[in-house]
This record gives sequence, C-alpha cells and structure tokens, in this order.
Amino acid sequence: MLKTSVLVSGGGTNLQALIDASARGKMQHVELSLVVSNRADAFALERAKRAGIRGEYVEKAGFEERLNALLDEEGIGLIVLAGFLRILSGDFTRRWAGRIINIHPSLIPSFCGAGYYGLRVHEAALARGVKVTGATVHFVNEIPDGGEIIAQRAVEVLPGDTPEVLQRRVMEQAEWIILPAAAEAVAERLEGRE
Ligand code: GAR
Repeated sequence: MLKTSVLVSGGGTNLQALIDASARGKMQHVELSLVVSNRADAFALERAKRAGIRGEYVEKAGFEERLNALLDEEGIGLIVLAGFLRILSGDFTRRWAGRIINIHPSLIPSFCGAGYYGLRVHEAALARGVKVTGATVHFVNEIPDGGEIIAQRAVEVLPGDTPEVLQRRVMEQAEWIILPAAAEAVAERLEGRE
C-alpha cells in the first residue's frame, strides 16, 4: 500500500469518495494516511477525523515548507488534490512529479486553468451553453490544470440546470467515480516501480 495524502480546502465530498472506496475494499494500493487543509474550517477535516485519518490545517505563511515536512514525516508516496483550491509552486510540483494528481470538474481543456475552480467552472460551462461537461483527473505540474490526463468522464448538461445542480451531477456521475479509480491505478503503478 502506498501512503497517500489528500489535500483539501472545503466540504471534502471527493475525500469522502476516497474514504468510502477504501472501506469497500476498492483501494488495494492506496493507504489514506494524511489529510491536509489550507482552511481551518474545512468540513473535510471533520470527515478525516471521523474516518480516523490524521488531519492537519496548514496556514498560508510557509505553507509548502510545512506541507513537505508533514509529507516526509508520514512517508507519503502519493498526493491527491481533492477540492484543493490553492495553486502549488513549480518547486513543489517538480519535487512530487508523477506522484501528485488532481480532480477538476470539467473536461479539460475546457473551463480550466487559473480562475476556474469550484462552482465557477459550472457557471462558465452553463454560460457557454455546452451540452456535455464532466470531470478530469490529471497529473499536476507547474501549469494549472496542465498536466497529463489520467481519466475523464462525460456528464450531460440538462435544460434548467443551475451551477449547483450541475455541480452535484458532475460529482455524482463523474468525480466520485473516477478519482478513487485513478488514485488506485496510479498507486498500483507507482508501487510496481518501487
Ligand atoms: C470539486 O468539484 C472539485 O472537482 C473542485 O472543487 C470541488 C470540491 O468539492 N476542484 C476544483 O475546482 C479544482 N480546480 P469537495 O470539497 O466536496 O470535494
């Protein structure tokens, strides 16, 4: 099992999907060992606590230095960004190249990059009038949402959708499915290399 850290900023439903997949025995190579939030009030920290996973809030000043110290302390081999809404530096992503993945709530290259996060992605998709959207899991490099694509799943946009309704459908029909599956696949590949 590869010790895995999940980085979060908010509600943590994607973290919950990872926890649930793990409980159902779907994660044979991922060991959820550490949850790190850049927001003290993130409900995701409560989810980590309930699941018996170490949870840490890390403040803005010295964020990456403290994060690296925590990751080293726990012997982490894979980082999953699950609703983590802070951009990481090139130094950080280079250090973790091939070991850091992110879930993004659109079909990259649509509606991605700096400024496209959370509900804003779905607002933009509705404003553009697309009929299909979805979610993408990709490796993280120094370009926001620019790393190699690992998995994508399409979701229909329906008449009358609000950003909130569309966000929920994309989570249910895409994000919560492809994120655990991609994390497991990447962990298995990484373990095979070690
Ligand atoms: C999710 O929809 C995730 O894809 C998105 O934020 C939401 C977090 O929800 N991430 C991004 O927009 C990253 N650019 P959650 O905290 O309930 O998992």
